[in-house]
Amino acid sequence: MQIIHTISELRNILESQTGIALVPTMGNLHAGHVHLVELARQQAQCVVVSIFVNPLQFGANEDLENYPRTLDADFEKLEAAGADIAFAPNIKEIYPNFDAATNDLGQTMIISAPPISKELCGASRPGHFDGVATVVMKLFNIVMPQLAVFGKKDFQQLFIIRELVKQFNLPIKIIAGDTVREPSGLAMSSRNGYLTPEQKAHATMLHACLKEFVESIQQGCGDYTALEQVTAQTLDNSGWLTDYVSVRSARTLLPASKEDKQLVVLAAAKIGNTRLIDNIEFATKANN
Ligand code: PAJ
Repeated sequence: MQIIHTISELRNILESQTGIALVPTMGNLHAGHVHLVELARQQAQCVVVSIFVNPLQFGANEDLENYPRTLDADFEKLEAAGADIAFAPNIKEIYPNFDAATNDLGQTMIISAPPISKELCGASRPGHFDGVATVVMKLFNIVMPQLAVFGKKDFQQLFIIRELVKQFNLPIKIIAGDTVREPSGLAMSSRNGYLTPEQKAHATMLHACLKEFVESIQQGCGDYTALEQVTAQTLDNSGWLTDYVSVRSARTLLPASKEDKQLVVLAAAKIGNTRLIDNIEFATKANN
């Protein structure tokens, strides 16, 4: 596996390659990321994994400074997973107009993600999906892959990337990887590393609540709003600070109506200072 830090070096190597897959990450890799690399490996000749902690997608009071950076361990995992190239650029390489010391964007051009990006996670993370769309567009243009792999764990992100590809007519196939979980059901996340062992045990509740939510709908409960409120309350009552619990159309990500049969229930909640997200996609069986 080659470890590359600059765009020009990467372009030189990729010039002679066909069948390129890109797996964008922010590093601190876990089994969820590795699953995406394996999916890419099955479908492409050349697998590029980017590792870049993107300052544009972090809010002023978020964890940009503390975000775990474990490059050497990440390279080992990527080598073992069969990646061909690890691309780990520095901030200046990606955003030459951005002043990291003062967080001043300068003349940086940013993509404005569609209104759906202001809902769910976007409601409490203003500008987050603009930052994601911008860096992913740049990575697409730098690597020019035929396919790119993203995780369903970040369902809203995946939705926005699919819109980015569609609306900017990018010739890139997007592949979605299933959420990899701990045996306890907890979705793997770099942010799980912030949790104490007690918090980590407690965090399994998020997925359990979403499973119950789906079960209630499958058993005929048609009052989605009441279910959302009860689930948020259940989490809050046991020490979480719930940001949202919301059932949406899996196709449009708009609030679910009775006509929608392909649904996704999404949630974000904090344990202490750690914000966790999860979701379950499902087809309604019940005739609600
Ligand atoms: P990051 O959080 O590092 O995630 C990189 C990719 O791994 C994303 O597509 C994410 O959905 C996927 N992923 C994370 N946890 C997963 C899990 N438990 N199972 C399966 N896939 C999982 O998401 C980002 O980085 C950034 O926003 C990025 C797209 C790289 C843009 O900066």
